[in-house]
Amino acid sequence: MTVVPVALGARSYEVWIEAGLLARAGPALRHLANGRAMPIVTDENLRGHLPVLQASLHAVGIASEALILPPGEGTKSWTQLAAVCDCLLEQGVERGDHIIAFGGGVIGDLTGFAASILKRGCNFVQFPTTLLSQVDSSVGGKTAINSAAGKNLVGAFHQPALVLIDPDLLDTLPQRQVRAGYAEVVKYGLIDDFAFFEWCEAHAEALLRGDAAAREYAIAHSVAAKARIVGEDERETTGKRALLNLGHTFGHALEAETGFSDKLLHGEGVAAGMALAFAYSAHKGLCPGQDAERVAAHIRAVGLPDGLKAAGIAASGTRLVEHMLHDKKMASGTLPFLLARGIGQTYLDKTVDLADVAAFLDAQPRGAACVHRP
Ligand code: GLY
Repeated sequence: MTVVPVALGARSYEVWIEAGLLARAGPALRHLANGRAMPIVTDENLRGHLPVLQASLHAVGIASEALILPPGEGTKSWTQLAAVCDCLLEQGVERGDHIIAFGGGVIGDLTGFAASILKRGCNFVQFPTTLLSQVDSSVGGKTAINSAAGKNLVGAFHQPALVLIDPDLLDTLPQRQVRAGYAEVVKYGLIDDFAFFEWCEAHAEALLRGDAAAREYAIAHSVAAKARIVGEDERETTGKRALLNLGHTFGHALEAETGFSDKLLHGEGVAAGMALAFAYSAHKGLCPGQDAERVAAHIRAVGLPDGLKAAGIAASGTRLVEHMLHDKKMASGTLPFLLARGIGQTYLDKTVDLADVAAFLDAQPRGAACVHRP
């Protein structure tokens, strides 16, 4: 088992990573249960795995009723938040209890937010089941739902008490989802860890094929990187945590253009966004062109979109920049961008001229139609 500590003073916790952990969840969680039930919030996609989790909890005497929600981004809503809160209150949840979020980023974000407001804040455990949630959203305490005004606009920082990661859960995840999650893995190399980017170049194929050692190493390394960054800037106030948003501003525009739909998954938008962030940095003379090309080549090699064309985006630069203006990272009328001086040398730039970004995007090869991704 790999244990990664997340050092946040009184809110510190650990991330446990081990193949097969699902079947050992009961023993892993017994110390938190304290004789109380541990309700589970999950979605339809996890129906096959849920009995394994519940059997393991029951075997050590932990009662656990499960609330099974519809899968998909639409579940991060006021309606489902109310449903989760009402259901947990009916089950008699108390402030010291631990709710288990068993699912991908949607379930983790929704359950974490519900836990942050129930009884003015109760405990929760993240049990992420997608690569994206294992290496990013389950660690660091960002929780949220979407509102009519945009994604993740209503939420709270609320750290979990423990994160349990079983890489074997990825065996049943659609390959497209695994690939999309991989974008957030390689992100850590691009941000500030050139050696890890080189590791990704050498091992991505094995990782995506399901090689256990490559998968576990990539998850542990990514979680450790995230824990370090979150430990330095829990609430994204110093700019350090903002580095985790590499590719997300460009990506957000592409996701908005495709209606935050299955046409472009979040990780696919991030992959294209990271390639664009490097291409823009090279275009501005900030970063060697060969670094930008190397990033794009790797993203292409793993089957992720490396720009507007591969993402099937035909919209004008002006339209894409308009989408960016609705990004929640807007502050005092300016939009901070993550740019790069090279691979592993990302920094936050608050002086980027949006008209210049629009012109850059207009000059990019673009897609004629939406690409179908198997
Ligand atoms: N996914 C970005 C963050 O957790 O800060």
